[in-house]
Amino acid sequence: MASDAGPLLRSERLLLRPLTARDDDLGAALLMDAAVMEHIGGAMTQEKFEREMAVATRRCAGGAIGIWCVLDGRTQEKLGTGVLLPLPVEELDTNWDLVAGDELPDAEIEVGYLFKPSAWGKGYATEVCRRLLRFAFEETALTEVVACTSAANAASQNVLRKAGLRDVGLRRAYGGDYPGFRITRAEWLGRRAARA
Ligand SMILES: CC(C)(COP(=O)(O)OP(=O)(O)OC[C@H]1O[C@@H](n2cnc3c(N)ncnc32)[C@H](O)[C@@H]1OP(=O)(O)O)[C@@H](O)C(=O)NCCC(=O)NCCS
Repeated sequence: MASDAGPLLRSERLLLRPLTARDDDLGAALLMDAAVMEHIGGAMTQEKFEREMAVATRRCAGGAIGIWCVLDGRTQEKLGTGVLLPLPVEELDTNWDLVAGDELPDAEIEVGYLFKPSAWGKGYATEVCRRLLRFAFEETALTEVVACTSAANAASQNVLRKAGLRDVGLRRAYGGDYPGFRITRAEWLGRRAARA
């Protein structure tokens, strides 16, 4: 499967397309920026960034699992990323070996997002989170999506709650204990029915 094979997703203001190697400009603007990385391990060195970009374009399960480049739907400006990826529990980072093959990985799947600071505060992360949940529950066999944040990342916790995930208290993830969130397919379908 080509590394950029995967679904194109549209939302009200945004376009999500599979991340490719040509998105290293966006990758650098996110992963080597101290403000973006404040709650997720700090700005990467050039060496770590290059290692990260080498795996970040992997996808599996027909492209359903991986990283999307998020663009302004009108101007095509690259704004950030959204992810559906296996959640590392005791490992410190995503186990990219699980992102291979035609099946969904045998792991919990986390939703996540990173935006350039110039794109913060406009509701984009909530829009991406909602769109990825809709994709996960309408177009894949996933029965649950999880997330976790650092305890201090109140903005990200707000995003997850607004998108319908519920707090599950501290849980193991990324080799530590972090605030956890989850939503099941049944819960998501219930919210969709309530909105209709
Ligand atoms: C966290 C992040 C994704 C939020 O993106 P965003 O597009 O600004 O988020 P949204 O506008 O959709 O929603 C953010 C919500 O949190 C609120 N918020 C923002 N900063 C906050 C803070 N410091 N404390 C509490 N709430 C905050 C906003 O007011 C908004 O809630 P509201 O709609 O009820 O007003 C973005 O800041 C980012 O990319 N940060 C760096 C990467 C990161 O931490 N990613 C998450 C890893 S778990």
